[in-house]
Amino acid sequence: MKKTNDENIKQHYLMDSAPGAVTKINGKEYSYFGGTSYYELHKNKEVINSAINALKKYGINSSSSRNSYGTTQLLLDVEREASKFFNCDDAVYLPSGFLSDLAGVHALSSRKMFDVIFIDEISHYSNDYAAKLSGKPIYKFSHMDDVDLEKKMSSNLLPRQQPLIITDGIFPIFGKIAPVKKYLSIIEKFNGILWVDDAHALGILGPNGRGTYEHYGLTSERFYFGGTFSKAFGGFGGIIPGNKKFIDEIKNNQIQNGATPPPSSAAAASLTGLKLVKSKPELRLKLWRNAKRLKTGLRSLGIDVEDTNVPIVAWAMGNKSEMQKIQKELMKKNIVIQYIQYIGSGDEGALRIVVFSSHTPQQIDNLIYELKKII
Ligand SMILES: Cc1ncc(COP(=O)(O)O)c(C=O)c1O
Repeated sequence: MKKTNDENIKQHYLMDSAPGAVTKINGKEYSYFGGTSYYELHKNKEVINSAINALKKYGINSSSSRNSYGTTQLLLDVEREASKFFNCDDAVYLPSGFLSDLAGVHALSSRKMFDVIFIDEISHYSNDYAAKLSGKPIYKFSHMDDVDLEKKMSSNLLPRQQPLIITDGIFPIFGKIAPVKKYLSIIEKFNGILWVDDAHALGILGPNGRGTYEHYGLTSERFYFGGTFSKAFGGFGGIIPGNKKFIDEIKNNQIQNGATPPPSSAAAASLTGLKLVKSKPELRLKLWRNAKRLKTGLRSLGIDVEDTNVPIVAWAMGNKSEMQKIQKELMKKNIVIQYIQYIGSGDEGALRIVVFSSHTPQQIDNLIYELKKII
C-alpha cells in the first residue's frame, strides 16, 4: 500500500482534451496509450450530449441524498439498465468504483455472510480498504495463487467459519485475469463467497461484456461483484449488480444514503455509454483485435505478455530511470505510454500500455516500431 504514482504529478503532465486514441497533453497531441477509455466513449458525441442535456435539466447535482429528495429518474434508469445488462435482479449506482468495493463488502458483512477474509496480496486499494473496514480477520494469499489460497484457508479457518475471497477481476497494471473459476471451486468446499472488483472487466470481458464471471462462463450464487462506469462505459460512478436482498442492503445503508448521489449528468453519460456498449458488440471485437495486435507486436520484441483479450499490458525492464527514459523517448515521437508505480507494479515500477478500440493498426504498429528502436 506504500506506492503512489507520484512521478506523473511531479512532472506536471496535464491532460488538455478528452482521453482517446489521440489525446492532448500539455497542449500537444499524442498517440495515447494510457488510462482506461477502452472504447473512447468519454469523447463520444451521444454520451456528451446526454450529459449536457441532463446538466441543463438537473443542474450540477441534487444536493440531497437518495433517501431524501436526491433520486432522479436518471439514477433509476441507470440501475434498471445495469440490472438488464448484467442479467441480475437489481443494481445500485454509487458515486465511484472505489466506493463499490466498500459498499459491496460492507453489505456482505452486514448480512453476516462471512467471518474471515482471504484477499489477493495485490488486490486494488479499494478492496484492501473494504477488507480492513469490515473489521474481520484478514489473510493475504499469493497473487493469483489458488494453491496458496486453499492452503491458507485450510490452516486458518475454524470450524463453521465462512470465508470471503476478495480479488480484482482484471488486475489494473499487468492486465491479468484472476482465476476465479478455481476460486469458486475452492469456496464451495468451504461454504464461502467471493467478491470481485471488476472495474476493468465490465464492458470488456465476456460475449456480452458482463465481466469476469461471463468470461469464465460462471453462474454462482456465491459470486458477488462491482465495478465502475468511469472506464469502458465512458461515464462516471460505481455500479454493483446483484440479487435483490444484497442490493437492498446497499440501498438502505449509510454509504448510499449518507452521500450525495452521482450527478445526473454523470448518470446520463453512464446510461448512454452502457447502451452503446450493449448495442455495439463490434466495439468489443475491435478492442480484442487491437489487444491481439499490440501483444503480438510486443512479443516480437521479446516482451513476455499474455495472449488474452485484455487491452492492458505492462512489463518491467531494467530499473526505474531506464523505464522512465523509454517513456520520455516515446513522448519525443509523439507517443504516450505510462511509467507507473502502483499496487502490484514492483519496487522499480513498470511500463504500461493500454490499447483502445479506436486505435488504428498504424498507431499500434508505429508504437511497436518506435519501441523497438529505443529498446
Ligand atoms: C481495480 C480498480 N478498482 C477500483 C477503481 C476505482 O474506480 P473509480 O475510479 O470509479 O473510483 C480503480 C480505478 O481507478 C481500479 O483500477
